[in-house]
Amino acid sequence: MSSPEFYRHARAYDVAFGDRDFAAECDFLEWCLRAHGRVSTALPVPQVQHGASPVHDPRAFLELGCGPARHAREFARRGWSATGLDLSGDMLAYAADAACRDGLILRTVAADMCDFDLPAPVALAANLMESVTHLTTNEQVVAHLRAVARNLLPGGIFVLEMAHPAWLGRDTLPNTWTARDGDLEVDVLFGAADDPYDWFSQVWQVTSRLTVREPGRPEYTIESHHPHRWYLAQEFRALVDLSGAYEAAWWYGDMRLPPPPLDNGDADDQMIVVLRTPQMM
Ligand SMILES: C[S@@+](CC[C@H](N)C(=O)[O-])C[C@H]1O[C@@H](n2cnc3c(N)ncnc32)[C@H](O)[C@@H]1O
Repeated sequence: MSSPEFYRHARAYDVAFGDRDFAAECDFLEWCLRAHGRVSTALPVPQVQHGASPVHDPRAFLELGCGPARHAREFARRGWSATGLDLSGDMLAYAADAACRDGLILRTVAADMCDFDLPAPVALAANLMESVTHLTTNEQVVAHLRAVARNLLPGGIFVLEMAHPAWLGRDTLPNTWTARDGDLEVDVLFGAADDPYDWFSQVWQVTSRLTVREPGRPEYTIESHHPHRWYLAQEFRALVDLSGAYEAAWWYGDMRLPPPPLDNGDADDQMIVVLRTPQMM
């Protein structure tokens, strides 16, 4: 599996999708672990195995499909052991540079989120910004759910940020906006009105386009067409059950605190799924 062209321009992506309150989102992730996790904190931290990674660290965080790893870097800033995992070498290099500039320790892992093994399990994992839409088959989602569970401590928490099912009609396309950071300006298109949709596989061929303006360079455009699948709540619930990897699940409509339950109202535009691994493995 390779990373879409769209993700080979990490700085442009970071500016395009950077207008979020990352600290508040990390507060929510920490809350999920406190409210729903059952990770033992009884062991001294860290216990080091073979002189390398802690074998039981209740303050270890993993960001799946991390991109610029804004959340993983925020966890590192808070004193957690933080890991960012992605297929894109450009994204990982960008995240590692940014962490280094801020004097943070960030472990980066180049891997497929459907099949990976960390040197030691984490307490909290997150798949944010609809990154799970890159997994377009039931088999990939189940493999992903199992791979994450395999790398979580007993009683650990996995949070997925997905789109609210009400948005699946995609009748708001084209989805466009402009973002700026300093001298860099990016026009973004994520989803064109005539993108093809397959009703059987539920896969969209999504057009994504970044038009970048920065001083000293002619304007340039990065365009890609890549398959994405957005998930309904009940089908995702069935895939979680099929994975057999989690003992409990909670559903929310947003990442603010306190989080609203996922419901049929139009106040929220997210589907947040919080999963817990069994306490006894
Ligand atoms: C929408 S971006 C999310 C980045 C970041 N988590 C955020 O919140 O902005 C999706 C990321 O997932 C990565 N990705 C896509 N498929 C992947 C896979 N199978 N395994 C690992 N990473 C993947 C892409 O390279 C990209 O960096």
